[in-house]
Amino acid sequence: MHPLLAFLLLHIITTASAAQLRPGFYRETCPEAEFVVREVLKKALIREPRSVASVMRFQFHDCLVNGCDASMLLDDTPTMLGEKEALSNINSLRSFEVIDEVKEAVERICPGVVSCADIIIMAARDAVALTGGPYWEVRLGRLDSLTARQEDSNQIMPSPRSNASSLIDLFSKYNLSVKDLVALSGTHSIGQARCFSIMFRLYNQSGTGRPDPAIEPKFRANLNKLCPPSVDQNVTGDLDATPRLFDNQYFKDLVAGRGFLNSDQTLFTFTETRKFVELFSKNQAEFFMALVEGMLKLGDLQSNQPGEIRRNCRMVNGRHVNTFWES
Ligand code: HEM
Repeated sequence: MHPLLAFLLLHIITTASAAQLRPGFYRETCPEAEFVVREVLKKALIREPRSVASVMRFQFHDCLVNGCDASMLLDDTPTMLGEKEALSNINSLRSFEVIDEVKEAVERICPGVVSCADIIIMAARDAVALTGGPYWEVRLGRLDSLTARQEDSNQIMPSPRSNASSLIDLFSKYNLSVKDLVALSGTHSIGQARCFSIMFRLYNQSGTGRPDPAIEPKFRANLNKLCPPSVDQNVTGDLDATPRLFDNQYFKDLVAGRGFLNSDQTLFTFTETRKFVELFSKNQAEFFMALVEGMLKLGDLQSNQPGEIRRNCRMVNGRHVNTFWES
């Protein structure tokens, strides 16, 4: 490649990374983008209702690890271990094909314009709105990362065993308050989790050989039936009693001792978080307002690393540039 072209490419990549996020970022360059994302999500919801919850979760797993940069969507390469196989993601994150479908649809109308990182943010918002939750205006203009870091994901993402105080500490590192933590955990109003994530709390909470005493007995009997000790741990259960509806049932369940994950139920057991669980269980509007605020703050996390607009969310564009270099 001509050195000047190489310099220009690098310049485009690095200077663009300083872009400011704002609503309506694609108003001139791709006015149909938000509509197209919404239409694909609507189809996904009909095809497989759980898939929108699975896509919603991407915002958390992307943004917490080096900012919202779609690093989580990169497939492994011979020289890079991606985040898909990180501890919290392997055999767990799913519905990547929905994002592929969105990206293909968006690329058809405005190629090379809309980032995969922004697609995650729009899709998470739409997943909430399409299942009965609030709608909010998203800030856009993110770039896609040039790499992924499995080790960072392993270090950062919280385990389902976490207690509230460790979650408070983790979230505070991202400028997310106790209220944000409780509201954002309320996204477990939709979707499912695997037996794998609760075996310890059913049979050996904190190494006691006993179940978590915070589980309401009838609910525990149901969980024992769903996840007996010999179960295939990929069997899934609902995260709340209305897993297709984005509502405040999750918080009502926590008050009743019917939280699925330890990291859910701990929010009621622990005093600092309990007041928000109680508030949201009684007042859905308060939950929705806090959720929107939390999602916006989560979506604002940035890496300040160089980026690009990927053509395919699963791989960086560099591969094409390499081909160009080689020829
Ligand atoms: C507070 C710390 C959190 C912990 C410890 C946690 C943990 C988990 C776990 C263990 C699962 C099930 C995984 C499995 O069994 O395969 C799950 C599912 C889910 N999480 Fe979280 N999560 C947290 C916060 C969040 C946040 C902030 C969001 C969204 C912004 C979110 C959205 C979801 C959704 C929608 C599902 C269901 C996905 C599906 O059905 O495929 N979670 N989470």
